[in-house]
Amino acid sequence: MNYSRRPGIDSEALSRLVAREVGSFRAAHRESARLAQSSAAHWLGGVPMHWMRDWNTPHPLFVRRAQGVDVEDVDGNRYIDFCLGDTGAMFGHSPPAIARALAEAGASGITAMLPAERVARLGEKLSGLFGLPFWQMTQTATDANRSALRWARAVTGRPRILVFDGCYHGTVDETLVRALPDLKDKGGTRARAGLIGTSHDVSAATDAVPFNDAAAVEKVLARGRTAALIAEPVMTNIGMVLPDEGFLERMRELTRRHGVLLIIDETHTLSSARGGYVRARNLESDIWVCGKAIAGGMPCAVFGFTAAVEEGMRRVQRDRAGGHSGMGTTLSANALALACLEACIDEIMTPANYQVMHECAAYLSEGLGRLFAARELPWHVSRVGARLEFGFGKPPRTGAESELLAWPDLEHAIHLFLLNRGVLLTPFHNMMLCSPVTTTVHADRLLQALQEFLHEVGSRA
Ligand SMILES: Cc1ncc(COP(=O)(O)O)c(C=O)c1O
Repeated sequence: MNYSRRPGIDSEALSRLVAREVGSFRAAHRESARLAQSSAAHWLGGVPMHWMRDWNTPHPLFVRRAQGVDVEDVDGNRYIDFCLGDTGAMFGHSPPAIARALAEAGASGITAMLPAERVARLGEKLSGLFGLPFWQMTQTATDANRSALRWARAVTGRPRILVFDGCYHGTVDETLVRALPDLKDKGGTRARAGLIGTSHDVSAATDAVPFNDAAAVEKVLARGRTAALIAEPVMTNIGMVLPDEGFLERMRELTRRHGVLLIIDETHTLSSARGGYVRARNLESDIWVCGKAIAGGMPCAVFGFTAAVEEGMRRVQRDRAGGHSGMGTTLSANALALACLEACIDEIMTPANYQVMHECAAYLSEGLGRLFAARELPWHVSRVGARLEFGFGKPPRTGAESELLAWPDLEHAIHLFLLNRGVLLTPFHNMMLCSPVTTTVHADRLLQALQEFLHEVGSRA
């Protein structure tokens, strides 16, 4: 295989390393290989969810159990998990409070299409923690975003939405777009490459502009056709892109000025602080979305909204002809999800847990920085609370800049090398999460393995 050449890495050494690591993986994962072969008879691609093939391993790794940061596969190999289910398990695998909530709630009725007793109390807790008065629940962050966007169009009576180029808000059709290269600051979009089976042009009612470009945002909003700007406060799905000083405040000011709802998606940036990123910085959203880890890994998502948005929603409901709203799924707000959400608020998203997560992530971030500096690699580390990411160049300011830094063959080689040494990283770019039970000892294992990797493939930059 040919490996791309860039300064700092010896591509021949990289190619030799990958061949060896593939062999080591196969030798240590014979039972996973056997299960992969028999699973292929009944599951598309051999897995129950196609993203499980995104790990750059010769075949999927089958998990026997996961607890805290510890994952054990069916061959008995143990791993320190920095992927943590790509955020679903950000607070550790099977936290005791969630396991307890599941056992208790699971014994008294799982789903009834009626509100559980705890709902009134939980509404108060959501409002207290995240600062918005009204709430709805869904099963996934995708569905929360989809609902938030539908409500935004209905409430404002406007047809279009604005996203940042390179965003990801789940598999919500109208957000699966990229900015047109020659129209970047004017907002034009095209469907993302690779979409399967779409029934319409998903880009038809979506504008996209570069992150950190307030002038481009203003240009689009000034046309008066935008219902909502949906954004992560820190882009986390195209590498990590931090907001410039004052950029988010400017978004708030511009959306208010143009009557556009600001939807903040904190599905990943819940790593920032108890209450999320925008709450910690006193930024107000009109609609606030979160999923994945919000109920400790149990399928659950929420969206909260202001009294003004709630008033608009009531008006829409009053004025419509009746019939199906086009939103909602049968199992949303089931008793298990409600119980886990409450347990997560009460016992897991505590200031003490956030402090541990942040201290560990800061330790890891500094260690990575030292490692790259020692090898004169011009790489950066970005962090948003317990979530961090390293990239192969200077910190990017836009999604497109971040995309240019991607180096897939190097990323894959790093992931495989670390996996073979008992450390799991997210299969997409170089993201790491520190849970409340991740320690500096775990971080040191990652740093040690990465140092060995760089020692083997690094050439002086
Ligand atoms: C910011 C953001 N929002 C929403 C989602 C969708 O989450 P889910 O796949 O759980 O629906 C993701 C998934 O990665 C995400 O990163």
